[in-house]
Amino acid sequence: NRRVTIRDLAAAKARGEKWPMLTAYDAMTASVFDESGIPVLLVGDSMGNCHLGYDTTVPVTMDEMAFLSAAVVRGTKRSLVVADLPFGSYQEGPTQALRNATRLVKESGVGAIKLEGGQRSLAQTELLVSAGIPVMSHLGLTPQSVNAMGYRVQGRAEQDAHELLRDAKAAQEAGAFAVVLEMVPAALAAEVTAALEVPTVGIGAGADCDAQVLVWTDMAGLTAGKLPRFVKQYAALRETLGGAAKAFADDVTGGGFPQPEHSFT
Ligand code: KIV
Ligand code: NA
Repeated sequence: NRRVTIRDLAAAKARGEKWPMLTAYDAMTASVFDESGIPVLLVGDSMGNCHLGYDTTVPVTMDEMAFLSAAVVRGTKRSLVVADLPFGSYQEGPTQALRNATRLVKESGVGAIKLEGGQRSLAQTELLVSAGIPVMSHLGLTPQSVNAMGYRVQGRAEQDAHELLRDAKAAQEAGAFAVVLEMVPAALAAEVTAALEVPTVGIGAGADCDAQVLVWTDMAGLTAGKLPRFVKQYAALRETLGGAAKAFADDVTGGGFPQPEHSFT
């Protein structure tokens, strides 16, 4: 009953087995996913939008990431927990990246970290890997660069597709154990997946990636408003939870709760 390791994920690719990844931002939810057998949980900086009420991932701080990552680790026994390095915590260079990644490993107890960018984050990836910290790379749409790129499909133009493939190979060469591909055309993701020895993790990247990741609040139907096209909704938690809250409110105002069985004599 040990934790999943990056070796297990490499072995899964060798066997041609696909695997799921979900985000998690707290111990309670993480324990549900751990018990459900989700092998990899990502403490994504999507916590900015999903959990902390920011408009983007950009404002997420190292303190927030360290605090919520520790909670996710405490809530899990088996899942490999991967934490995002938030915007501004690794762009200064490898030394800054190592300092912050080390904090997430030592203080929060995560088993791996993720950072955005291939060639542009090469030195960071190399130093972390050489220090014994497994690194997941994130390519395609990289939300920390929203101010520069917006939120749209990446790698459609031939030159951009070339660049993405180069980034993926560079990340693998630098020692990354997996590569997230976000919002890239399915055919390009398939090409990258075939070209790499390490697993690709798709989000809006078609069916041929080695793994698939979704933001848990999206897949469970808790997120308000319109969802991206690549999301499949497996539950309607916003409705369910809102319904429970309304039923409780009606019960309290109507005198239906508490009953004698909820009370002490
Ligand atoms: O922060 C996040 O949730 C992510 C996934 C969408 C890959 O980076
Ligand atoms: Na992220």
